[in-house]
Amino acid sequence: MGSVLTIRGGIPLTGKVSVRGAKNLVPKAMVASLLGNTPSVLRNVPEIKDVDVVTSLLQLHGVEVTKDPVTGDLTMDPLNAKMAQSKDIDAHAGDSRIPILFCGPLMHSIGEAFIPDLGGCKIGDRPIDYHLEVLRNFGAVVEKRTGGISISAPKGLHGAKVALPYPSVGATEQVLLTAIRAEGITELSNAAVEPEIMDLIAVLQKMGAIITVQTDRVIRIEGVKELTGYNHKAISDRNETASWACAALVTKGDIYVEGARQVDLTAFLNTLRKIGGAFDVDDDGIRFYHPGGALSPLVLETDVHPGFMTDWQQPLVVALTQAAGVSIVHETVYENRFGFTDALMRMGASIQVHRECLGSIPCRFGQMNFLHSAVISGPTELRGTDIDIPDLRGGFSHLIAALAADGVSRVTGIELINRGYERFQDKLEGLGADFDITEDAPAVAVTLP
Ligand code: EPZ
Repeated sequence: MGSVLTIRGGIPLTGKVSVRGAKNLVPKAMVASLLGNTPSVLRNVPEIKDVDVVTSLLQLHGVEVTKDPVTGDLTMDPLNAKMAQSKDIDAHAGDSRIPILFCGPLMHSIGEAFIPDLGGCKIGDRPIDYHLEVLRNFGAVVEKRTGGISISAPKGLHGAKVALPYPSVGATEQVLLTAIRAEGITELSNAAVEPEIMDLIAVLQKMGAIITVQTDRVIRIEGVKELTGYNHKAISDRNETASWACAALVTKGDIYVEGARQVDLTAFLNTLRKIGGAFDVDDDGIRFYHPGGALSPLVLETDVHPGFMTDWQQPLVVALTQAAGVSIVHETVYENRFGFTDALMRMGASIQVHRECLGSIPCRFGQMNFLHSAVISGPTELRGTDIDIPDLRGGFSHLIAALAADGVSRVTGIELINRGYERFQDKLEGLGADFDITEDAPAVAVTLP
């Protein structure tokens, strides 16, 4: 039985929302606390499911996690870190991908790890081959087991020279969390340098790590023997910010996002301006609004930082359905990230997805069978419909479309959105959205005469 969000669309969203710690940084910083020999304090922590999952996993491994009832700040004490039972780990891993990042810290703190098969949004195959290759380079023994992988470091972990085939965020984090206490120097080429990576490096530096980021995206880490805990305020969530910005544009509203950081959103803000959205930046956040007039189409390619972030693509596509003309979006990070457009087409959007690379960025998916380019024609009238949410970002984009659509939409699967959007229902209510939440009655088996 799940909840059903019934949305009556067509109301401009206006008001203020507060965006806190980044979903794609906070869980990683929590895992890093395992590496310290004193407690760590993490501030600006959002109430999202991914934080709950990692809290349970840390507690399973003997880390004492306490949450300040007022601020939500987390204190994590790894003093009694221990191995957990595989079956318990599996039960708590949920649909998160974070467990894979426990490998290095657990090997350093207790000499071994069991990592359950990972979850995460179904936006591609989501392999972990880079992660396992990197861990072997550090001297780890990796064995596939039922339900996950078992990893140990019988001879300890030593620094390595690693070159990633693709600037993977997760694999870069894997290297950082393993190398900082490994014996000797690690050199990582073709590293990811997203804002969340740089904030994780800031956390590790506070713990005593020595990490250099070179202009050619080579990261050098000098392993140290000991690390202390940290006290850190997480950067805010640029992906949630971009989602609210698109919600303001598509509903012809006006939303102030408290906590938004312009420095993390350069490519997004340029794109928003190019299609006709407006924004005003101040020291505490960013105001996003529709200045009137028609929206303009554009050609867009997603890329690694500082390019246009793949997590911004879904809410932007909803905005492009309202642009006057033909837009093209080439998704170069994930092979299967246009599944959410099916529901938009049922609402009246005009979108064709293609196997060809419709752009100039070298892409890994060009000659394969992936529908990873989209052509969007607008503006189209969106009408309410029934929607079952497929993944986190696509799901929030469905909400944006339903909020702007004419008529009523019934949305199921909204639990997925709690993974990355803190108290999104309260925020929608505060912005004037017209919706109800009901529990979906379980299907009743009817015996025909
Ligand atoms: C992180 O995922 C984010 N998730 C994603 O956000 C984000 O879209 C992505 O980075 C890119 O910025 C978290 O931080 C929890 P990758 P991650 O490793 O680390 C391939 C959201 O909605 N790859 O950079 O899993 C992979 O298939 C989520 O907040 C391998 O082939 O992303 C993909 O094509 C969605 N082998 C590309 O690299 C590997 O071992 C980028 O993946 C690892 C990755």
